[in-house]
Amino acid sequence: MRSAENPYSPGAGNPQPELAGREEILDRASSTLERTLNRRMTKSLMMLGLRGVGKTVLLNRIQQMADDAGCVTGFIEAEGKQALPDLLTPHLWRILLKLDTQKLARESVHRAFRLLRGFASAFSVQFGGIEVAVKPETSTGDLSLDVTDLLVAVGEAAAQRGSPVVILVDEVQYLSRDELSAIMVALHKVSQKQLPLLLFGAGLPQLAALAGEAKSYAERLFFFNEIGRLSNEAARTAIMEPLRQENVGIDGDALEAILAETDCYPFFLQLWGYYAWESAEASLISVEDVNAATDMSIEDLDQGFFNIRYQRLTDRQRDYVFALARLGPGPASSTAVAAELGVPVEKAASVRSEVIKKGVAYSPRWGLIAFTVPKFDEYLRRVESMRE
Ligand SMILES: Nc1ncnc2c1ncn2[C@@H]1O[C@H](COP(=O)(O)OP(=O)(O)O)[C@@H](O)[C@H]1O
Ligand SMILES: [Mg+2]
Repeated sequence: MRSAENPYSPGAGNPQPELAGREEILDRASSTLERTLNRRMTKSLMMLGLRGVGKTVLLNRIQQMADDAGCVTGFIEAEGKQALPDLLTPHLWRILLKLDTQKLARESVHRAFRLLRGFASAFSVQFGGIEVAVKPETSTGDLSLDVTDLLVAVGEAAAQRGSPVVILVDEVQYLSRDELSAIMVALHKVSQKQLPLLLFGAGLPQLAALAGEAKSYAERLFFFNEIGRLSNEAARTAIMEPLRQENVGIDGDALEAILAETDCYPFFLQLWGYYAWESAEASLISVEDVNAATDMSIEDLDQGFFNIRYQRLTDRQRDYVFALARLGPGPASSTAVAAELGVPVEKAASVRSEVIKKGVAYSPRWGLIAFTVPKFDEYLRRVESMRE
């Protein structure tokens, strides 16, 4: 069928035509927003899940909801290279500009601008907008104290203006422990003062441990929500709904084949849907089309998604993931992987945590280790057999 009309969108953060199976989390986001609009106590929301499950698209959707509800929003993507002050400053500046409809007539907005200027110079943030004629307020230079003062000031400006501020932060796991801790201290203060400022975050599952270590009250500040694979029913919707809108059908066994191949993992659903559409001649997708799509998807993954992850690993880390892959698709005990490698479990511990840090594997439960994406084990077995 015509590529130009292909409704699927495999790729990071791509808006997909059908955000299937996420009603519960969207309901929670919506009631969180509503409570904030009504100046009621609520918690910020933190979504945890592996790559490709749909966290970024959820954050985008929540930002849209917040915009529609009349909140002032900013979307921050942490990436490991920029420090928190560099990430925060331009976004808070833009947020303040949006709150500043009366040109610094309101003292609370004016004060937040002054604090932000002081913050930016204390942390040597290079940022063009800062030349605006506001006198910087002195910062302490202590990240926790300064971020707290700043977010409280922004929250007060939001309260005076009557527009809640919603900050969305993607890839939160890239923040350092101190940065995360500073944000939590600040949010704690904001919530004690019942100010209308909310944070919606998303990150890889290891973040929960980091947040827990950073501050024991993390659980009181955040709703932690696990984002995982879709249910079978939601996965069917994710495939069917875009087709229905294009007046294209799919055979029942073809649909089930997609579910089986993708394990209902959102990124793979888009990929398989995309290639099934490309393979189909008529406006009815058959099981043969899905079989062709499987070959194309795997070829695509081998060259891109899987290969990138593999290339990032050192030789030592590769040996570790090969051993894990030889044990099959499911989670394995760390002891079993060490045995497969032929080393004592204590010796494998450091390489195990390196592989986790690189986002290739994670620990679903204490003592267990598993790959973060389905089919990565099969890929590694292909690579290993080609090396021999
Ligand atoms: N609920 C969903 N239904 C269907 N496709 C989805 C859904 N959530 C995400 N996707 C698709 O999965 C892919 C990965 O989404 P993304 O938000 O980038 O994941 P993450 O941020 O968790 O790595 C994208 O192609 C997106 O279109
Ligand atoms: Mg993402």
